[in-house]
Amino acid sequence: MMNTEHQINRVALVTGANRGIGFEISRGLANREMTVVMGARDSGRGRAACSQLQAEGLAVHFQHLDVTDGDSIKAVVDEIGGRFGRLDVLVNNAGIMVDQEVTAIAMDVATVGETMRTNFYGPLLLCQHCIPWMRKNGYGRIVNMSSSLGSLTEIADPESNYAAMQSPAYRLSKNALNGITALFAGQVRGDNILVNSACPGWVKTDMGGRRAPLTPAQGADTPIWLATLPDNGPTGGFFRERKLIPW
Ligand SMILES: NC(=O)c1ccc[n+]([C@@H]2O[C@H](COP(=O)([O-])OP(=O)(O)OC[C@H]3O[C@@H](n4cnc5c(N)ncnc54)[C@H](OP(=O)(O)O)[C@@H]3O)[C@@H](O)[C@H]2O)c1
Repeated sequence: MMNTEHQINRVALVTGANRGIGFEISRGLANREMTVVMGARDSGRGRAACSQLQAEGLAVHFQHLDVTDGDSIKAVVDEIGGRFGRLDVLVNNAGIMVDQEVTAIAMDVATVGETMRTNFYGPLLLCQHCIPWMRKNGYGRIVNMSSSLGSLTEIADPESNYAAMQSPAYRLSKNALNGITALFAGQVRGDNILVNSACPGWVKTDMGGRRAPLTPAQGADTPIWLATLPDNGPTGGFFRERKLIPW
């Protein structure tokens, strides 16, 4: 598949790209003629994942990136922008869920902090530092990998399908991540930078577990769609299966 917009070779940064949904997003974007920078916090795992996609003939590059290392994020983004002369797409995919069995009453602040550092502060800083590069070229697509578990509508509904789920720190972090989507979409409106949240559905990964019905490639569908939206595509929304869902 070719880029329709003047054959520009778009450059994408995907965080947590070494496994799971992030790996499939990287493969999907590279298959759409993008140059994909695969961010991973572990160099060995990141390089191995990158080599696997390079062996498929895809234009992917490894970049060491721990999204909790706030001090390094600007340097990493500027290095990517400088190397390729552009940064068109950001997929904030890296995420952790470390409090599955914990209730809101029992959750400890240290776990909330750890979860927020990965799922919220990292994406926040990445948005702040990538947007200037996107503005430079008058093009940007930002996808924040959220979860239906973070929907305030679901959290507040006692009849919700997710009512029995715990993971309070994770749910709060994804709710806050949705706030980033709404805030930044408003900030860049009119700049041809589209900012959206995606829920991949329940996906068979280390996080989703073996009982999940969707493959990582299926989970990657909505984020890839949002990362490749046309200029008149939606912004400031929360999507699952390419459809708008409530915040
Ligand atoms: N699976 C689901 O059913 C599901 C449902 C809704 C939303 N999501 C969201 O989708 C995204 C991807 O999930 P997944 O299922 O693919 O999870 P996964 O298999 O657990 O993979 C998580 C990825 O994030 C990376 N990561 C974690 N902390 C990081 C950090 N500090 N810096 C950089 N990378 C870091 C991991 O790297 P390491 O290999 O080094 O640990 C790994 O590459 C997450 O944001 C998740 O919340 C998943």
